[in-house]
Amino acid sequence: MGLLSRLNIDRKSTEAVQKTEEKQKPVLKKPVPKIETLQRPISRSNELKEKIHRNLIDRLDLTKLDTLSKDDLRGQVREVVENLLTEESDFTIEISRDKLIEEILNETFGLGPLEPLLHDHTISDILVNTYKQVYIERFGKLELTNTVFKDDNHLLHIIDRIVSEVGRRIDESSPMVDARLLDGSRVNAIIPPLAIDGPILSIRKFGIRKLSIDDLIELRSMTPEMAKMFSAMVKARLNVLISGGTGSGKTTLLNILSHYIPGSERIVTVEDAAELQLQQDHVVRLETRPANIEGKGQVTQRDLVRNALRMRPDRIVLGEVRGAEALDMLQAMNTGHDGSLSTIHANNPRDALRRLETMILMAGGNLTDKAMREQISSAIDVIIQGTRLSDGTRKIVKITEITGMEGDTISLQDIFVYEKMGVREDGRVLGGYRTTGIRPKFAEQVETSGISLPIDVFDPKIIHDFEEEEEKKNEKEVA
Ligand SMILES: Nc1ncnc2c1ncn2[C@@H]1O[C@H](COP(=O)(O)OP(=O)(O)OP(=O)(O)O)[C@@H](O)[C@H]1O
Ligand SMILES: [Mg+2]
Repeated sequence: MGLLSRLNIDRKSTEAVQKTEEKQKPVLKKPVPKIETLQRPISRSNELKEKIHRNLIDRLDLTKLDTLSKDDLRGQVREVVENLLTEESDFTIEISRDKLIEEILNETFGLGPLEPLLHDHTISDILVNTYKQVYIERFGKLELTNTVFKDDNHLLHIIDRIVSEVGRRIDESSPMVDARLLDGSRVNAIIPPLAIDGPILSIRKFGIRKLSIDDLIELRSMTPEMAKMFSAMVKARLNVLISGGTGSGKTTLLNILSHYIPGSERIVTVEDAAELQLQQDHVVRLETRPANIEGKGQVTQRDLVRNALRMRPDRIVLGEVRGAEALDMLQAMNTGHDGSLSTIHANNPRDALRRLETMILMAGGNLTDKAMREQISSAIDVIIQGTRLSDGTRKIVKITEITGMEGDTISLQDIFVYEKMGVREDGRVLGGYRTTGIRPKFAEQVETSGISLPIDVFDPKIIHDFEEEEEKKNEKEVA
């Protein structure tokens, strides 16, 4: 269900209550000076519509919009729009007055300037940096749009509509909200005084199709050989940590790896904002809860991981390890809960290990550095490192095995490495995958689980030099 339709349902229920309330005061207020806002006039009627919408917002008291019944409000808005249309009589438009009014009403009661962006399925992220600036991400690239809001109050009003729709609130006393919409989209809003320049809204849309392993191969984020390895690793119950920076594709890969878990196993997922979409039947999904306005009732990932361990899980999939739950997860992995999958925010596998150590310290685990590292090295088998390259593409740049300890240090061994070879004039990054020729220790565990990997999968070679291949193809085509 789209955001707008969900909001409509929400509005219907509030309207029912409002109908019984006494008639409210009109929302008209004195005209205020015009402010240039939306700047996307396409056709004559769009131009007029935007002009009227702008004027309408100027003449309406937005703070009262939600306190009126729908019929009253529509009546009043219609009146203003008709007056405005008369003032603009030199405009000739190709659609009927009624249709135009209807469109303006929809714009007024929907999510305003965000509506077209929310309906555009090629957009994956919408990033609103105060009322003046809206960026979108499309096909992995950020673009500045010319969408703007009237002012910060207008933006705040839209944010309030979005978060109240999922039963959350945002105001000066709780100026931060991280929520998941019913369609799975993730929304984060942060407003003053925490956001210094004005309200900030970040939406990661999930209306768009989830990427599959074949998509990742097609997008050249990995090779088919790596896909075979991933499947074998998950089936053989290795503990896998996916590491990467913001938006590098960690959750996407976690979702894909989770698909390899056999359907016969009981999976418990723990997430801050539920994003995973597992296909298996036997899945229990847990999600954390923030503290309420009195600062009570918080349920952390650590609480949920501990609870999950009492639920007889075959596998625990932790959306992102980011705090004290790291200790409980590692202990679980070391005491027979194999096959756990999680992600971590880090720029390389070594950095991921350092972050884990910090998290263990946060958990108050009274361990020496060495004991802590031993705990980590015996728990985690493989780290998959993802990166977002300068051209916006995501790559799995390393598959690294944890082989044990050397003195006080955890020893790591790269199995697959992406090598950047240059940047083309158009900004595209050139590179290829290389196997290091090392046969990983986990190959044995994979084989004893009865899964066979291609015999030459670890032989030293450049597995795929996509760019070279493409150049050859192009040369052939030209010939
Ligand atoms: N290999 C890929 N190629 C292109 N786009 C991708 C790839 N992997 C993920 N994406 C897209 O990138 C965006 C971010 O992906 P994802 O949520 O998996 O990243 P993340 O690392 O979990 O982000 P965060 O740090 O915010 O949790 C999504 O829109 C997703 O569809
Ligand atoms: Mg994520």
